Formats: sequence, structure tokens, C-alpha cells
Amino acid sequence: MDVKPKKIMLVDDNLTNLNDGQSALAGQYEVFLATSAPKMFKLLGRVTPDLILLDVEMPDVGGYEAIRRLKADAATASIPVIFLTAKNSIENELEGLSLGAVDYITKPFSHQLLLKRIERHLMVEAFNHDLQRLVDEKTSTIVSMQAAVFDLLAEVVEFRDDVTGGHINRTQRYIGLMLEAMLERGLYLPQISRWDFRLIELSSQLHDLGKVAIRDSILLKPGKLTPEEFEEMKRHTTFGAKIIGRMEGGPTDLNFIAHAKIMALTHHERWDGQGYPGGLSGEAVPLEGRLMAFADVYDALTSRRPYKQAASHSEAVDIISQGRGSQFDPLLTDIFLDIADRWPAKADPGPALAGPPEPGPGPADDPGRPGLSSSPPCPRAPGPQPKDR
Ligand SMILES: [Fe+2]
Repeated sequence: MDVKPKKIMLVDDNLTNLNDGQSALAGQYEVFLATSAPKMFKLLGRVTPDLILLDVEMPDVGGYEAIRRLKADAATASIPVIFLTAKNSIENELEGLSLGAVDYITKPFSHQLLLKRIERHLMVEAFNHDLQRLVDEKTSTIVSMQAAVFDLLAEVVEFRDDVTGGHINRTQRYIGLMLEAMLERGLYLPQISRWDFRLIELSSQLHDLGKVAIRDSILLKPGKLTPEEFEEMKRHTTFGAKIIGRMEGGPTDLNFIAHAKIMALTHHERWDGQGYPGGLSGEAVPLEGRLMAFADVYDALTSRRPYKQAASHSEAVDIISQGRGSQFDPLLTDIFLDIADRWPAKADPGPALAGPPEPGPGPADDPGRPGLSSSPPCPRAPGPQPKDR
């Protein structure tokens, strides 16, 4: 199999040096010549070399300035650069290396030595490339495996909580829509620009994981919870964070575990501090929790329960808008209202009511009912028992 020769770009304003370098490299490499840094940059628009041999002292743009520009541009930052120069002081060499050069060779140089050093750097570069590919593949495998575990855990929660599939998929989509709109408008950009949106959506699956630790007599209670039972129900937030926290710090310690933990802990906090478990308020409520609240509440409001009809999309939007600045982050509420018509309608409104429907969400001091109360709902599937809390 023919192996294409590596490409070397040689940059020097001295034609004698260019000819000398070319004669050293010819036969082993495909050589591209530039008599100045500006000409090198122009050439880089057409050719991506495997390595650049760069003179230091050149008119207009010197070698040190040229490497700064190379390293500042994502398209050229990874091209290894070797300085080839008559400046042979230790200070010059240190400066060249500190600017990102992989080597510093002083003139005059022997052809054999130049070739050996180029060969070594190209080998290191190839090794690093292979290593990075391997790391990317392994990371991708870990993320896929962890996503599968998250899916499984989410299914366990849905099964235990008597919630049909669909809630988790919908809330993931709602969060994705909110994040896209936030990015478009630049809202909370310093935070979300560091986030992988897909991982944030994955993280949201486990917001109610802590319900696996809630007793059936409470979780599946068909009627209203007593204040004591509701206090135990509230603990699904801290239980969830504790369970997810056990996955932190191990070999699969990835960002979305941290996001999932925060969502589980804070999805019932409120902007006005009346939520739980921490009673946090304003921006002290982590952004993940503030986001999750929209998806969670909207889906619960538009879901039919044994004790209530599903609210229409416009009714749910109206109810959430009334919670601007009390239950919900006001700026996020504005985003929600801007894009609410993009939120996908539920495909299945659920089965017929088991009893007479009750209108809308319950009052704020009613721990047994969901809605714009101190207990935003954890959405549930239609079924025989009303259990949104
Ligand atoms: Fe919840």
C-alpha cells in the first residue's frame, strides 16, 4: 500500500536557507516553501502540513508572532512547529518553546540531525493522535454504558411510581427546547456554554430516582397525604441525590452524574424560597433545578390524574406564567412563554377519570395536591391512585 509522504512547510525569508532545507527534506517529505509568515498563512488556507519549520527572524511578521497566531487559531493550533533559527541563546530557545514550539534547532544544522528530529516529532504526533482516538472511543463507550444505566434506573422509577413511559422522554425534550432558546438569547450563557445539552437532558431522567426509597404506603396512597407522610415524601429529593452521589468519584465520574444529582435534589425548590428540601431562593437554586421545574410542572399539569382532568396547553402555560417570580425563575419563565408553542403536545391524554374531576392544581398549603404549591408535582401516569407530589 502506498503511503503518502508527510507534508512539511518550510518558512524562511532567506532563499539559501530555503534551498538548503528543501534539499534536506526532498525525497522523504512533500515540501511546501514560504518566504514570509504572511505567505505561510496564505498557504495554510490550501495546505495543512504535518509539521512547520519556522524561522524566527523575518521581516514584517517574525517567527514568535507567527507561532502565537498559529496557536490562537483552532485550525492550525495542533500543527507541530519547530523553530529553525540562527538565534542560539538559551533565552531565545526558552521563549520559542514556551510559545508552543515542539523543538528549537539552531543553524547551521546537519541534514541528518534535522531529519531525525522531524521523524521523532512526527512519531510522537502520530502516537498522541492514536492515544486521543483511543481515549475518545473509551469515553464514548463509558458515556453510552452510563446512559443505558440511567435509562434503566429511570424505568425503575417510572414502574415503581406507576408512571407510564413518555413522561421522561417529554421532560427531556422540554429541557432541550429550553436550553436551545436560552442559548439563542444568551440567557445564563456563562453556565450553559459549558454544558453538553444532551448530557443535561440525560441527567433529567433521574430527578425522581429517590422515590424508590419511599414506602409504598405513601408513594402509592390513593388519597391525600397527611403532613407527616408528605414530609417523608419530600425526602425523595435527598434520597435521590444520595443514591446518585454514590456514582460520583468512581471511574465513570462524568459531568452528567453531577447534573443528575443537582436535579434530583433541587427540582422542588422554588424561586421564592418556599420549596424543598433546602428552601433555597433565587439564583441560589441551581440552574438545573430551576429548569427541571418547568418540564416537571408542565407535564404534570397537562397529564390526566384520577382526581383531575389534564389541563390544556394554554391553561398550563397560563398557570406557569402566574408562577413567574414566585415558583419559577422570572427570566426562565419569559423564555418558556416565548417558546411555549414549540412544546410538543402529549400524544396520550390518559385513561378516563376514576372519580369526579377536580379543577386545576391545589392550594399552596395543600401538601397532598400538586401544582403551584410548595410541592410542585412529580408527574405520574394515569392510574387508580393520585400520587402527584
Ligand atoms: Fe419529584
